[in-house]
Amino acid sequence: MLKSNAVKLMGILLLGVTLSAHGLSDKQRAGIEQRIAPAGNVCMEGDSSCGVAMAAAGGSTKSPEEIYNTNCMACHATGAAGAPKMGDVAAWASRLDKGIEQVYANAINGINAMPAKGLCMSCSDDDVIAVVDYIFDNSQ
Ligand code: HEC
Repeated sequence: MLKSNAVKLMGILLLGVTLSAHGLSDKQRAGIEQRIAPAGNVCMEGDSSCGVAMAAAGGSTKSPEEIYNTNCMACHATGAAGAPKMGDVAAWASRLDKGIEQVYANAINGINAMPAKGLCMSCSDDDVIAVVDYIFDNSQ
């Protein structure tokens, strides 16, 4: 008696599973496939198998423009906290009075409200220098 009830129950469960699997729309199915897709397709921060960790060791793989847009624009496009604005020819020209090497060093080490490397922790010194050159190229 108990056994046959269990068999019936399993039958009902199976039926339910079968029905619901058939009831999926293509969109629902695509959504499920996306959710159960292997995590290997996603590049996680600090993952040694993709670009991010390599960037931390050997400098950023981003272009100077990309680094600027990500790390510098917030202050240098608006002049926030007294940052010289990109494109402000006079503001940048006067920064060169102390010599370009000092300007590079200040961008790398920080100066006053300017955070070291503009907080781009994955940037090498050379990356920061390339971004400073990019700013100067666009401010003359
Ligand atoms: C939190 C805001 C902020 C961010 C983000 C920021 N800066 Fe700055 N930056 C400043 C401020 C403020 C100054 C002016 C500092 C001063 O001279 O008192 C400055 C100055 C500079 C200078 C001139 C230094 C000198 O010697 O005159 C350079 C070059 C520079 N920033 C480059 C960068 C680069 C490159 C990035 C991105 C990687 C960046 N900054 C991100 C705020 C910022």
